[in-house]
Amino acid sequence: MSKLSVIIPAAGSGKRMGTETPKPFLKVGGKPILQHTIVNFVGLPQVSQIIIAASSENFSEVESICSSFTQKVNYFVIVEGGSERQQSIENAIQKVGDDIDLVAIHDAVRPFIRASLINKACEVAEQVGGAVIGIPSKDTIKQVDEDLIIKLTPDRASLWQAQTPQVFKTELLKKAYSAASNFVGTDDASLVERIGGTVKMIEGGPENIKITYPFDLKVAASILEGNHE
Ligand code: CTP
Ligand code: MG
Repeated sequence: MSKLSVIIPAAGSGKRMGTETPKPFLKVGGKPILQHTIVNFVGLPQVSQIIIAASSENFSEVESICSSFTQKVNYFVIVEGGSERQQSIENAIQKVGDDIDLVAIHDAVRPFIRASLINKACEVAEQVGGAVIGIPSKDTIKQVDEDLIIKLTPDRASLWQAQTPQVFKTELLKKAYSAASNFVGTDDASLVERIGGTVKMIEGGPENIKITYPFDLKVAASILEGNHE
């Protein structure tokens, strides 16, 4: 079985949420969002380590969340995040063990990812190099100019919304991040695509929301209630 390292970026400031507490540490159903997210990975047999990138101000909270699980020493690794998500991931990549075959990157604020999709993404990444969970675009997407005049309507059938997890062979991911230098991508796959790596889309489900705005907390609470029925 391939050995998997999971990187969880949790170092954002949550500008769109607008709360004092960063999003991963807000509670849903009585537990921090980060804890719900970690639960989905802990105990999967292929996971060797979970690396969490956080701001040093939140290290003690991350430690307390990690200590609620009974994993072996060094299973959890906490690293300082950066000013951009890409920087947070880059810091985390430095801690990926030498024996790790695959790396999964998953937002701390997507607490409802299913194990079956994580497994599927790992299988596909093993085969082709990279895999991304996403959903077909429901809305028509428009490209606009600076005056908001519509310039292009790409065919919706070929448009997907990329989510996480995004899983890559370790070597490919490391190469993509070191080749990025000044390029800033909006996701990890874009860095791999840039160096010619193959990344396949895998259809996920509607529950894999990214908690972004205050409204998403209400959605998250209701998804959680549904899970407990
Ligand atoms: N993230 C990170 N380091 C950063 C920025 C983001 O680790 N410098 C993490 C966030 O904590 C989050 C994930 O990347 O788990 C996805 O980012 P996003 O939802 O955009 O969170 P924020 O950047 O915190 O929110 P906003 O963009 O509204 O400020
Ligand atoms: Mg952000």
